[in-house]
Amino acid sequence: MAPPNVLVTGGAGYIGSHTILEMLNAGYNVICIDNLSNAYSSGSSKLPESLNRVQKLTGKTLNYYCIDITDRDQVRAVFQEHKIDMVAHFAALKAVGESCRIPLQYYHNNMTGTNVLLEAMADNNVFKFVYSSSATVYGEPKFLPVTEEHPTGNCTSPYGKTKYFTEEILKDLCKSDKRWAVVSLRYFNPVGAHPSGCIGEDPNGEPNNLMPFIAQVAVGRRDVLRIYGSDFPTKDGTGVRDYIHIVDLAEGHLRALEKLRNVAETGFFAYNLGTGVGYSVLEMVHAFEKASNRKVNYEFTDRRSGDVATCFADGSLAETSLGWKAKRGINEMCEDTWRWQSNNPNGYAPK
Ligand code: NAD
Ligand code: WQD
Repeated sequence: MAPPNVLVTGGAGYIGSHTILEMLNAGYNVICIDNLSNAYSSGSSKLPESLNRVQKLTGKTLNYYCIDITDRDQVRAVFQEHKIDMVAHFAALKAVGESCRIPLQYYHNNMTGTNVLLEAMADNNVFKFVYSSSATVYGEPKFLPVTEEHPTGNCTSPYGKTKYFTEEILKDLCKSDKRWAVVSLRYFNPVGAHPSGCIGEDPNGEPNNLMPFIAQVAVGRRDVLRIYGSDFPTKDGTGVRDYIHIVDLAEGHLRALEKLRNVAETGFFAYNLGTGVGYSVLEMVHAFEKASNRKVNYEFTDRRSGDVATCFADGSLAETSLGWKAKRGINEMCEDTWRWQSNNPNGYAPK
């Protein structure tokens, strides 16, 4: 049987690039589209830098198109050019604070973009879809660990709502046409980098998320980490999250693709991708100091609006249904982040 052709949207970004690496190693043909709104390209290469490096690491090639998923004609042209078997959809804007300032851009990019993609799929008889969802769809946890049965939709930011609304669209689509097979992967807090240290997370400007901020302080790019709140009802007063290694997350996508390839069952399936273990901000800082042998300066500041005290996953459904379980722990997360950050202090851009 010929290896499947997978269309990957947003594949030049953090999670997409790591997942493409695992897909290529597993023998998939990858066709990637990314508009470079949050990925670096030198201009002299045909490929974004993350994907250049993925090709070097795997010794395999992929097809790349600099296309915006909201551009109906260009998206359709890719489906004409390639016989796509399945789609992994990562492309999205993802900054929670920014989404509160420019909600229309978030709804256009994340919702309209997804609709354009789904219509192009249906018109070309492609019905297998893996979606990048988020633990944010659960809002403030009503119980812990969070299972897939936990109510969704109580999201505070426009970004979070785009993830929730898209899941609702996907459920309606699966009800309307039994050919659709959709796996929605609800990521908890992805961190870390490929162990080669060649690809990793490269946020534009000041990082919104904890791990890249810690890494930039450790490498000397920023002076001090501001810890948002010291009075949460947690073990040390700082927020607790379920951090998951990016390579474990990428492997979760392979299991989802395998499920869609091998199982005749169709419909909508949602799975948590987390470790089931929660670490506090201070525990992350100390683990990173140990892994990097660097001091991470920090100071306490007010809570960030919308932050919850504690969130961690029940990952048992992904284990029983996909045969996937996170294998990598906090030390590996910090060591691999540090290898990437210290080898690439400015991310993908040249020094
Ligand atoms: P990222 O910004 O690194 O990658 C997203 C990629 O999509 C970027 O390369 C960007 O250029 C591209 N893109 C955005 N809009 C596009 C458009 N209209 N057309 C074409 N390309 C477009 O983000 P990431 O961390 O890799 O996240 C990937 C997905 O996972 C997103 O859907 C995000 O919402 C979801 N997610 C991320 C996290 C996280 O903490 N990183 C957690 C949960 C869910
Ligand atoms: C983790 C902890 C902060 C930065 C966000 C999105 C969520 C999902 C993952 C996409 C919290 C604390 C952080 C800093 C800090 N993304 N922190 N100083 O908030 O759990 O989730 O990313 O879907 O939708 O909301 O992750 O990394 O921002 O924060 O003290 O400079 O670190 O308060 O306790 P979060 P995070």
